[in-house]
Amino acid sequence: VRIGVLGTGMVGNAIGTRLVALGHQVMMGSRTATNPKAAAWAERAGPGARAGTFAEAAGFGEVVFNCTNGAKSLEALRAAGTDTLEGKIVIDVANVLPLEDRGPRSLGEQVQELLPYAKVVKTLHTVNCEVMVNPERLPGSHTVFLSGNDGDAKRVVRELLETFGWRDVIDLGDITTARATESYVALWLSLRKSLGTAAFNIGVAR
Ligand SMILES: NC(=O)c1ccc[n+]([C@@H]2O[C@H](COP(=O)([O-])OP(=O)(O)OC[C@H]3O[C@@H](n4cnc5c(N)ncnc54)[C@H](OP(=O)(O)O)[C@@H]3O)[C@@H](O)[C@H]2O)c1
Repeated sequence: VRIGVLGTGMVGNAIGTRLVALGHQVMMGSRTATNPKAAAWAERAGPGARAGTFAEAAGFGEVVFNCTNGAKSLEALRAAGTDTLEGKIVIDVANVLPLEDRGPRSLGEQVQELLPYAKVVKTLHTVNCEVMVNPERLPGSHTVFLSGNDGDAKRVVRELLETFGWRDVIDLGDITTARATESYVALWLSLRKSLGTAAFNIGVAR
């Protein structure tokens, strides 16, 4: 699959690297065509990897990950092109931090509103990026969540998550359910402080 990864930070790196290793063609997008972090990643990740602008990466991908700074994600997605993203699956992994800056509606909903003809799926934002792409690093059963309005898009994303190694994927419902998982990030931050590591997750016992 051709996949666009918007974002040159640690999350874009982790997701892009894992996708290339799984055999996908990946373009990492940035505000500029010559971002040195994106170029270095493309060099490192191998033949399936390339770098471009947000717009180029959005055009390249059949599926597009939003791994940009949460407070700037709407700006980044506008630069990627709302028309370009029409009909595509947009996987939103971003968080607005501090949470108080977000307002009552989730970033996932705001992204879906900006991209009414894209299929936005919110997922993976409740774990650290190393856990996102390698859940087997943690022992035992633990959980990741899906929120989105389009059932077919969520099926595609679930399958992609399974290739990362995810086994317990709970579909919470439409994109408004991202409010709950984005708010969970407050607990995630407290847990990281008390545990002294980002290598953890919660599992829903049932
Ligand atoms: N770190 C984790 O493990 C983790 C876990 C869960 C969720 N998240 C979320 O994942 C997202 C990515 O995190 P990160 O630490 O990898 O990267 P980050 O530093 O939060 O974001 C980097 C990206 O944001 C873009 N950006 C910054 N300012 C911008 C602006 N004014 N307009 C447009 N784009 C702008 C940058 O563009 P350039 O490439 O042009 O510089 C870059 O691609 C965040 O929303 C974060 O909350 C992170």
